[in-house]
Amino acid sequence: MAGGIIGEEEIEKVREASDLVAIIGERSPVRQRGHDFWCCCPLHNEKTPSFKIDPVKQLWHCFGCGEGGDVFGYVMKTEDLSFPEAVRKLADRAHIPLSEGGGRNSGVASSYKERLKAVCAQTSDFYHKQLMRNPEPRAAEARTYLSGRGLGGEVPKRWQLGFAPGNGQLVRHLSSLGFKPKEMVDANVGMEVQGGSLRDRFYNRVMFPINDAQGECIAFGGRVMGKGEPKYLNSQETPIFHKSQVLYGLDHAKGRMAATGVAVVVEGYTDVIAMHEVGIGNAVATLGTALTMKHIRVLSRHAQHKIVYLFDGDEAGQRAADRALGFIDGSMTPEAGRSQVELCAVTLPDNLDPADFIEARGAEAMQALIDGAQPLLKYGIDRRLAGFDLSSAEGRARALAEALSVLAPIKDSALARDYAVQIASRVRAREEDVLVQLSQLQPPRRSDQRDEEREAVADVRPMAGGGAQDARPAGPALTQGEVNRRRFEREFLSLMAQNPAVALQHADVIAQTQWHDRAHAALAQSLLSTLSDDPSASAARIVTEASRVLPAAPGILTSGSTASSAAPASLAAFLVEELAIGDAEDAVDAMRAQMADPASLDPDEFEMLFQTVSAMQKDLSRRKLDHKSLSS
Ligand code: UTP
Ligand code: MN
Repeated sequence: MAGGIIGEEEIEKVREASDLVAIIGERSPVRQRGHDFWCCCPLHNEKTPSFKIDPVKQLWHCFGCGEGGDVFGYVMKTEDLSFPEAVRKLADRAHIPLSEGGGRNSGVASSYKERLKAVCAQTSDFYHKQLMRNPEPRAAEARTYLSGRGLGGEVPKRWQLGFAPGNGQLVRHLSSLGFKPKEMVDANVGMEVQGGSLRDRFYNRVMFPINDAQGECIAFGGRVMGKGEPKYLNSQETPIFHKSQVLYGLDHAKGRMAATGVAVVVEGYTDVIAMHEVGIGNAVATLGTALTMKHIRVLSRHAQHKIVYLFDGDEAGQRAADRALGFIDGSMTPEAGRSQVELCAVTLPDNLDPADFIEARGAEAMQALIDGAQPLLKYGIDRRLAGFDLSSAEGRARALAEALSVLAPIKDSALARDYAVQIASRVRAREEDVLVQLSQLQPPRRSDQRDEEREAVADVRPMAGGGAQDARPAGPALTQGEVNRRRFEREFLSLMAQNPAVALQHADVIAQTQWHDRAHAALAQSLLSTLSDDPSASAARIVTEASRVLPAAPGILTSGSTASSAAPASLAAFLVEELAIGDAEDAVDAMRAQMADPASLDPDEFEMLFQTVSAMQKDLSRRKLDHKSLSS
């Protein structure tokens, strides 16, 4: 079923009213070349257009970064929206009212989320007015506290800082505006206490509203004034607030990130404000958690060159730095292709955090620190080497082992060998020995959760060929034959997705092909089920449906170089034969393997297998010859 509460028909109506060329043209200049339109990719930084728009199929694909999809996917990716949000946005644009409501829904209804956002907006407004206008002594204390920390003047207004008076003042105010207790609890600004009465969640704290990338308030962080525990009380997870993907200050920073291509990540709310106030406007903070792959995915959409992670000089900052080395993976090697965000890191000196550093040394020193940040790999190696006494032989041996282990996830790359040579000279070891040690490292095993996050990154940084599904690091390298097979599969699937009428004629092939890639099997299944629901489904609809089972689907299904050919039927026939020959060869190989162990078979079985294999082989040779002549 469709995105929950918006009906399938309505989605298709919105799609029809939303011309892809016009919508992309509102943002990037597009130019027609032949049948298609082209522009520079809004998802990665480029100077020559590799972003193709098919005006008839209403599909786009970037040959630079491998992303692709339909009109909804375009809005989702460029504006950080969920599927229903993208549909709603385009419905608004086309003045199509959506009925919403009714229907099954796995998550929380979007209209309810809007309601929770309204609770947050009113709460933020209330806290801000308390800070600015409340004449009571405690509010005055909050003002003094903030200006004493350099957060006076225009700062509270620019960042909507506030003061939470507690004593039920907020929940009474929200009630007077018509909000229900459940809404306040669900937005996590109110709490039920025993007996069912309602209390403010934040009490006597300075409040930092947390906004989403669009600048809408979705949560809060509240700091005690002076000492007290916890230092910061933050909103818990709510239907509109997911800590692991929200970055404080992103709404303020995204413009600068787009302009400079660089994002700076710090640890604290006050650090972000301090950076922005001295003109370093591309800074954001995680919310008391480590940086996650989801954060990186969000950031790389705004900053296309580089993410600089600034670690506090204290112990907690150093623990965060060690955790961040876990982000090192195969996608960082040049082999993984271009157009990826570079992850860099730097530690602040002398136990300082960014706010302290700026106060002590000034904005220029901060900017210099950011500019000097090292690629995460180099940072990790230097960090490990720095932990040992390199003047003793024992220290050098341990430093070598520790520094090399940073390279384990990419041990087979040329980049790893370069770094290993550098490490060798730093610990005065022989290059050959160090390279042997490198080759003997075990690539790290990841937990399932990491794998899930990794998938997200594979989406952000697909391989140069556009096959995001191949972007699994540390897997065994594929043979050329295998690479070709997968390329044919991808070509075939994207031809089928983009030419539904042809796909209907080949439904049996789509169902029977032995896909060599799990992603391809999932795509084939989705394609068949969309077509069996609606045999006249459009290409764009097929892509939308597939994206629900596999996030990488739009990139794959729009990648085919022949998919928009004028003669899809004859191309399809060629690819069908190509895949069938491959499947037959696999079958022959499997039978051969069985025959290689004659003891496992009785003589009759062996004889039968032998006959079958010989016949298939003969047939295969003929088919391969015919097939070759067709392709040349
Ligand atoms: P810090 O302890 O470095 O705080 O925590 P800070 O940002 O420097 O704050 P000030 O300058 O003392 O006011 C960094 C971040 O970790 C989270 C907050 O997001 C904070 O900004 N944190 C910290 C919490 O969530 N809870 C805490 O109790 C402490
Ligand atoms: Mn700090």
